[in-house]
Amino acid sequence: MSNGHAVVEKNVGLMALLIVIVISFGGLAEIVPLFFLKDTTEPVAGLKPYSALQLEGRDIYLREGCYNCHSQMIRPFRAETERYGHYSVAGEFVYDHPFQWGSKRTGPDLARVGGRYSDDWHRVHLNNPRDVVPESNMPGFPWLNENVLDGTDTVAKMKTMQTLGVPYTDEEVAKGAEEVKGKTEMVALIAYLQNLGTAIKTQR
Ligand code: HEC
Repeated sequence: MSNGHAVVEKNVGLMALLIVIVISFGGLAEIVPLFFLKDTTEPVAGLKPYSALQLEGRDIYLREGCYNCHSQMIRPFRAETERYGHYSVAGEFVYDHPFQWGSKRTGPDLARVGGRYSDDWHRVHLNNPRDVVPESNMPGFPWLNENVLDGTDTVAKMKTMQTLGVPYTDEEVAKGAEEVKGKTEMVALIAYLQNLGTAIKTQR
């Protein structure tokens, strides 16, 4: 045995440090390639940035804490794909800042809820879920019908998204406030929900 080995074995601090370095190789080998893989960094074909109205709807989704009960991430397991549709792929989320994968499913996953119900169904459901799903324990959000968007922050929000790499044209940003002004929060939230997971064609 060389002397060097004896030094490591007699020095707990040094050994702990070396163990951490050795183990971290495993983590690095898994994580670092993902930063360079096209599959994880490029949008899937057909993915569009949120419209101004959908973006406002996304912020209402955050404000109301929908993510506390709903995930947006379908795992590649039969039990999930049978229920929700095609499993989620990384390229669907490149314009989501922050993404809403979540980890809590008191309610169903919403990653592909877009187009599953009519706008009217959502309006009734969000107003009082028990009107369409009698056994539901989801809270109602009736104030969304009364709160009207004035578009004050819309342009700033879209500019922020631009700096994060979302390819809005300056023209789209300039029209942002106009697009949302006077619409209710309910309309914005439903526009957001109806777009979820629609970039990939799914068979259900
Ligand atoms: C306390 C937990 C909880 C919160 C908070 C919550 N939900 Fe739900 N949600 C549920 C449950 C449980 C269901 C299943 C029963 C039903 O359809 O109402 C559900 C169902 C849904 C569905 C139907 C999904 C499907 O595939 O059938 C949508 C859409 C939905 N929620 C949207 C929202 C939105 C948007 C918000 C925030 C404004 C929200 N939920 C907040 C618990 C919650």
